[in-house]
Amino acid sequence: MNLPVVEVIISRSEEETVKAGEEFAHLLERGSMVALYGDLGAGKTQFVKGVCRAFKVTEVVNSPTFTIVNEYHGTIPIFHIDLYRMKSMDEILGIGFDEYLESDGICLVEWAEKLEGLMPVRRFDVRMSVIDDSSREITLSSTKRDN
Ligand SMILES: Nc1ncnc2c1ncn2[C@@H]1O[C@H](COP(=O)(O)OP(=O)(O)O)[C@@H](O)[C@H]1O
Ligand SMILES: [Mg+2]
Repeated sequence: MNLPVVEVIISRSEEETVKAGEEFAHLLERGSMVALYGDLGAGKTQFVKGVCRAFKVTEVVNSPTFTIVNEYHGTIPIFHIDLYRMKSMDEILGIGFDEYLESDGICLVEWAEKLEGLMPVRRFDVRMSVIDDSSREITLSSTKRDN
């Protein structure tokens, strides 16, 4: 499905990507789902850091590639999920993915393309691509009309 483009941002540094995440976080509330797409090193985890900063998370935010899920205790619970190593839908369901989606926290999912049919219709999509060593293109879109 083609989602309406909300915004395209060019980030010129890691910190600018963190700030983009921090500003984007204003659109989020309990139950929000954010799907992040982009190659390794595109900046998905930096963007998540910014979202966490907006919700006053004090824990260290880093890629949950090996742990699959990091839970942060911000002003709203945040579930940071990285599906990079997941090989099948069974594996994804095995980590209790659908329960995270139904929780009253915010879910941020790296490698969300692996979700296939599990992708909720109402969500935000964050697409990140590398322009050069220090620049990234970030495209934000939403299925919610009021955003
Ligand atoms: N403009 C930028 N935005 C985000 N990261 C950048 C940028 N420029 C360079 N980088 C570097 O790219 C890497 C992004 O890593 P990370 O956020 O973990 O990516 P991902 O989670 O998509 O694999 C970091 O090493 C970061 O310092
Ligand atoms: Mg990452």
